[in-house]
Amino acid sequence: MTKPISGFSKLTKEEKIDWVTESFTQNAAQSKKILQTYWNQDKSVQQLHDEFIENTITNLYVPQGIAPNFLINDTLYAIPMAIEESSVIAAASKAAKFWLKRGGFKAEILGTEKVGQVHFIFKGDTKKLDSFFTYLKPLLLAESASLTTSMKKRGGGITNIVLKDKTDELDHYFQLHATFETKDAMGANFINSCLEQFATTLKKEAAQFDAFSTKEKDVEIVMSILSNYVPNCTVRAEVSCPVEDLNLSAELTPQHTAEKIIQAIKIAKVEPYRAVTHNKGIMNGIDAVVLATGNDFRAVEAGVHAYACKDGQYRSLTNAKIEDGIFKFWIELPLALGTVGGLTNLHPLVKLNLELLQRPSAKELMQIVAVAGLAQNFAAVSSLVTTGIQKGHMKMHLLNILNQLGANENEKATLVKHFKTNPVSHHAVESQLSIIRK
Ligand code: MEV
Repeated sequence: MTKPISGFSKLTKEEKIDWVTESFTQNAAQSKKILQTYWNQDKSVQQLHDEFIENTITNLYVPQGIAPNFLINDTLYAIPMAIEESSVIAAASKAAKFWLKRGGFKAEILGTEKVGQVHFIFKGDTKKLDSFFTYLKPLLLAESASLTTSMKKRGGGITNIVLKDKTDELDHYFQLHATFETKDAMGANFINSCLEQFATTLKKEAAQFDAFSTKEKDVEIVMSILSNYVPNCTVRAEVSCPVEDLNLSAELTPQHTAEKIIQAIKIAKVEPYRAVTHNKGIMNGIDAVVLATGNDFRAVEAGVHAYACKDGQYRSLTNAKIEDGIFKFWIELPLALGTVGGLTNLHPLVKLNLELLQRPSAKELMQIVAVAGLAQNFAAVSSLVTTGIQKGHMKMHLLNILNQLGANENEKATLVKHFKTNPVSHHAVESQLSIIRK
């Protein structure tokens, strides 16, 4: 068995690769070749990637495509999306084209408030803690002033700090619950730096607060960290059209299609098993744009799913209704995104993607991302209630199956043609391939 290694991070990249391929793969030479295949030919670009994280040995490619024809608040966008799932960009593009002819997408920002907390333990008189907080609050702001100067110049900063008594839920547990405006930055570093300063000030001032007993002076800081739950950093995106425009299927009338879409959404509102898959389809669109623009998709995922169960049950993020013969379809969700800072200024492809999106502000990016999620959900649900999902999905998956089976370019062309009019399955592709090979 391979022994644990110490000092791995101090090895050179080559030494790391030697160790990992020799210890864990059957054919180290071949494994090294695969890792090298994914290195960037431009050494400076590769070095940039090496330095994003620790112990980099290679890059994992995810295809990036473009979903064109997105009309959002009367501006036309071609949206870059990075995703491995075959049908996502095709679905987004189809939805974009459908809504392009119907006025496009409208999106609005509902709020941009970010949150961070200092979690601490206080064993003592809560009334004394309240008066301590009144004394403390201006000091928290004053002692973090050097951290907030440049954010303030951009119109952001700390918007409020409140003391929260959480002792009903956990003995002696209190918080400084702070809210922030971070403008075009996602703001994680800014928020965390402010919070750690708040914690230092809190600890220091409590130790010197005359009204506190010795025990009360000994406030214990448990941790200081931003929250990825941002229910007041939200965006709404919507589309609407006359019901008779929903002519999406030969088998269903537009009215019936609209009603089935609404029914599908109602199901995803009440049934968590469906809601999770429904929202996963939305995240296909959201994550792909979040990733392409160098944002933190794990933060977005965590915040969105928490928001989906804000009333205690996990529910659909999208809504639909018919009003006076008009079909309305909309989404409301939290998105903490940045268009400055982090990878956005560093990663050459991310920079290009932001340029493709016409250098959006964080608010504009929130709108674009919400629209990508709404479009994806419209594509998924309208397929589900009409033809079913597999027809389109398997068509897009066909090339993956052909590649898996080692088909050459001629065979691919012949079979893509064949499967234009025949249902795709792994077995069907395998048999057709062996037929043409004979
Ligand atoms: C697949 O990645 C996403 C869908 O399952 C979403 C949905 O069911 O709404 C098609």
